[in-house]
Amino acid sequence: MITFDEKTKILKLDTPESSYVMGIADNNYLGHVYYGKKLNDTNLSYLMRTEENPFVPSENLREKVTFFDSFPMEYPCGGLGDYRESALLVSSGGQEGAELSYVSHEIFSGKKELKGLPATWGDNCDTVEITLEDNVLGLKAILSYTAFSDTDAIARSVKLVNEGSEPLYLKKVLSACVDMDDKDFEFLSLFGSWARERHMETVPVGHAGTYIESLRGESGHQEHPFFALTTKGCSQTNGEVYGFHFVYSGNFVGKVQKNQFGSVRAVMGIHPEHFTWKLEPGEEFAAPEVILVYSGEGLGKMTRTYHDLYRNHLIRSPWKDKKRPVLINNWEATYFEFDDEKLLSIAKEASKAGIEMLVMDDGWFGHRNSDNSSLGDWQVNENKLKGGLENLVEHVRELGMEFGIWFEPEMISPDSELYCKHPEWALQFKGRAPGLAREQLVLDFSRPEVLEYVYESVAAILRSAHISYVKWDMNRPLADAGSSYLPEDRQGEIYHRHVLGVYELQERLVREFPNLLLENCSGGGARFDPGMLYYSPQIWCSDDTDAVERLMIQEGTQLIYPLSVIGAHVSDCPNHATGRVTPFETRGIVAMAGTFGYELDITKIPQEDREQIPGQIETFKKYYPLVNAGDYYRLASYRENHIYDCYQVVSKDKKQALVTFVQVMAEPNIHSRKIYLQGLSEDTVYEVEGKRYTGNVLMHGGLLIPGLWGDYQAKLIEVLAV
Ligand code: GLA
Repeated sequence: MITFDEKTKILKLDTPESSYVMGIADNNYLGHVYYGKKLNDTNLSYLMRTEENPFVPSENLREKVTFFDSFPMEYPCGGLGDYRESALLVSSGGQEGAELSYVSHEIFSGKKELKGLPATWGDNCDTVEITLEDNVLGLKAILSYTAFSDTDAIARSVKLVNEGSEPLYLKKVLSACVDMDDKDFEFLSLFGSWARERHMETVPVGHAGTYIESLRGESGHQEHPFFALTTKGCSQTNGEVYGFHFVYSGNFVGKVQKNQFGSVRAVMGIHPEHFTWKLEPGEEFAAPEVILVYSGEGLGKMTRTYHDLYRNHLIRSPWKDKKRPVLINNWEATYFEFDDEKLLSIAKEASKAGIEMLVMDDGWFGHRNSDNSSLGDWQVNENKLKGGLENLVEHVRELGMEFGIWFEPEMISPDSELYCKHPEWALQFKGRAPGLAREQLVLDFSRPEVLEYVYESVAAILRSAHISYVKWDMNRPLADAGSSYLPEDRQGEIYHRHVLGVYELQERLVREFPNLLLENCSGGGARFDPGMLYYSPQIWCSDDTDAVERLMIQEGTQLIYPLSVIGAHVSDCPNHATGRVTPFETRGIVAMAGTFGYELDITKIPQEDREQIPGQIETFKKYYPLVNAGDYYRLASYRENHIYDCYQVVSKDKKQALVTFVQVMAEPNIHSRKIYLQGLSEDTVYEVEGKRYTGNVLMHGGLLIPGLWGDYQAKLIEVLAV
């Protein structure tokens, strides 16, 4: 619900348990008033502290600059005296600075689309659009806030319109800024590396700013466009949490800093480095949205809010609530060494075991027999697929399986026919040979003919055979972001235009092939972000499929993403990323907290492993509706205790729950582990491994899980209301 109190000039956004409040203050500046636990009154303008502020411009024009540096500005601009982190930097005629004042607002139910950008959607929400203006520049800023009524989330974005007569250069357009009371916050973020994505880390917030960022042209392995401000001692169940998550797949920054008056300013948006957007008179620029989530009950509630929001208000794919086919991918099975016979031999064994789809990974096109050639030449290599693609697909389908295929559409190999014809299609700076990564270059997505070529290449393959699934990969970050197509004063647009191009292509793809199951991927999980979820209902989580490493990667990923979107496979041992050997059963149980599939040569794995596959698939299918739609609770973390991991999914009606327990390290001579379940109904009686307990007892007395024999052992425990 969104209300405007005419008397107090207070705009108040309410979700079920949180309020976000703004006020129109002196000189029509839009101020931030409050964000946190739901408030029941609008008499709140005193929280902007203008009465006690001796620098208020209406009374003291001689200190306007001082006022700017203390007022809790809702959308602060740089250049005129607010020396804290700005949200907007605009340059006109070479001079940098803007001053935005409130003009009007409009409240309506529902939410508009963000043109060309991924965004949350749905009916259970209200939106307010607030128009601010700088009448010297002729610049309008339209701030948009959506308050959801079924979940404690607020979506926030900004649109800029040049209504003046001169071009404006946008040098920084962040999507959100919140000036908050300092509650002695800590800063939780997700860091990583290739094969080690999204590990959780917490540091204190101080006067020296704390920030996360990516300049890689993608959200990245190393950082993630998410942070949370948490009060000290915050746990899964206690403490206040403010989550900030950016619905975007390119360069970003998220920053928090304490200031001289003891409040903190938190900002998030497109990274201003390598960014300048030229806005001609009459043009608009839309910045992507940030999802703010407040929880007064610890991290767990924030997690479940993001899960519900993304399941109900972000993912659009018709696959969203459907069980995805259990797939087998040939990457770790064969790498580049395969032909149609090899793939069919895998498919035959796989179909016998109950696997439902074969995915042909990298190496099927051009003359790609290693990672040093052919990106851009999306024609089937008939030396490998001797009877052609359609023939292979039909054979796979005769086995009762679906067929999926891998692409890396944003890239070009110098060793390709495409590069011979169009070297200028690769991003590069004038007079400088562009740097290679994995021996490949990035295509210039600001060129319309490149987008057209890429789309038609992918679509032609999909039109040529019955293909049910696409894995869209991206195996290097951007660099040398220069375009021989764009004029000099638009070179600063390339990183953002690349992301817009990816969105445009994926939008076209899911429109032309509405039933296609699209999985995004980037060298494992380097483009795992909410932006991609708008196009694909699942994202490959990591190239690291080791069951132990996955516990930490999946814990960080599950912190903000529903299990149904997390690409997770069982692979062979010794694991290709770590060399670790874990039981096949444990690998299966860990992968069941995701989309589930196999990534191994089923014709070569030990017989006893192969025999487990039908049972694993049956278990996965049995619990899929629960895992896909249930509420997730983190009960113990191997990352923290270095011994075991435990999480639980509870059905929305609280009648069924599944506890996953993984004992990484065996310990001799210890008591059983006592695990306190969560989210059950207090008075309901549940059956657990043949014994009966009330929900109250399981949650407060605890469930005893005896130690398991050996390292890397895992167990699924069903909790069923009787
Ligand atoms: C990336 C992906 C892998 C695989 C390879 C193919 O690393 O994450 O799963 O598709 O590319 O080159």
